Amino acid sequence: MLKSVTVTAIVKLMADGQFHSGSEIGHLLGLSRAAVWKIMKSIRENGISVEAVNGKGYRVPGGLDPLDATVICQFLSPDARRYFTQIEVVQVIESTNTRASEYVRNVMVDGVAGGYACLAEQQTHGRGRRGRTWVSPFGRSVYLSVVWRFEAGFSAIQGLSLAVGVSVCEVVESLGGGGVWLKWPNDIYHGQQKLGGILVDVAGDADGSCIAVIGVGVNADIPEDAGAEIDKPWTDMAKIGVRADRNLVASRLLSGIFEMLVVFEREGFVGALPAWKRFDGLTGKAVTVDVGGVAINGDVAGIDSSGALILDTSSGRKLCSAGEVSIRCWS
Ligand code: BTN
Repeated sequence: MLKSVTVTAIVKLMADGQFHSGSEIGHLLGLSRAAVWKIMKSIRENGISVEAVNGKGYRVPGGLDPLDATVICQFLSPDARRYFTQIEVVQVIESTNTRASEYVRNVMVDGVAGGYACLAEQQTHGRGRRGRTWVSPFGRSVYLSVVWRFEAGFSAIQGLSLAVGVSVCEVVESLGGGGVWLKWPNDIYHGQQKLGGILVDVAGDADGSCIAVIGVGVNADIPEDAGAEIDKPWTDMAKIGVRADRNLVASRLLSGIFEMLVVFEREGFVGALPAWKRFDGLTGKAVTVDVGGVAINGDVAGIDSSGALILDTSSGRKLCSAGEVSIRCWS
């Protein structure tokens, strides 16, 4: 695998989408042209499309929009800037949630509230809900994880992932992405296509404090070859009209998640319920909910104050606190 510092230097240089000769790149990195060729091959293998033209050199068609921790910090809301004391941007990583969990194990000590967020250009083992893979091509999405400590334990985080979904929808909408909606519990959709997802990992005691690692993935401008690996209909911010710089998107997401967490700690999921209802795209729909391998058919009647799905079935009203929804009739 390429060294992160090498990838960072190349990404910065190639971000402009212009041609750069092998000797220019070699000079920058202190390498021969043959070594540059090898690096470009490896960069392609990392998911970046690199064009090579004789006599001109290499370019990334369309350029790149690299993540930059300093720029992300500048765009944060004042309260979020005070809270996030460490924003780590990495190039290629297994998973930002895994990285943030390692941070929790290695760095966080009792009484330290958090303030850590991790973002990556690419995830080699991006994790989705229910053991799925989150397809994570280089530089074309936002992958981030935020660490938050809840002093009141597991009971305090009921509905957390739904509240995160609300803040992601609010951010996408504020950036011009109208029409986003939530598919319970926390999938972010536009039309019939998935735009983003949330994965919350929790560690700690049932009664004592627990730590949530809140992972958010939002497709920004997914290349078709990477999109072909996604196992369900998908969309991205570019396709729904959001043209914002990924640093701005990342920053708004961090600020939005931080502000949501402050309210969530005070009020629980109830504080996010009115906004959830605004983005709810399931109420009134005929669905099948897979609850631990058991399929339940019904019509969605909303969600309750804990975030459980209310389902009207042929055998009466049922509450589902976890599960996977498939929509049987979209209209
Ligand atoms: C889903 O809808 O299945 C959840 C997807 C969550 C993906 C994000 S990307 C950042 C963070 N790191 C991961 O490995 N997963 C989450």
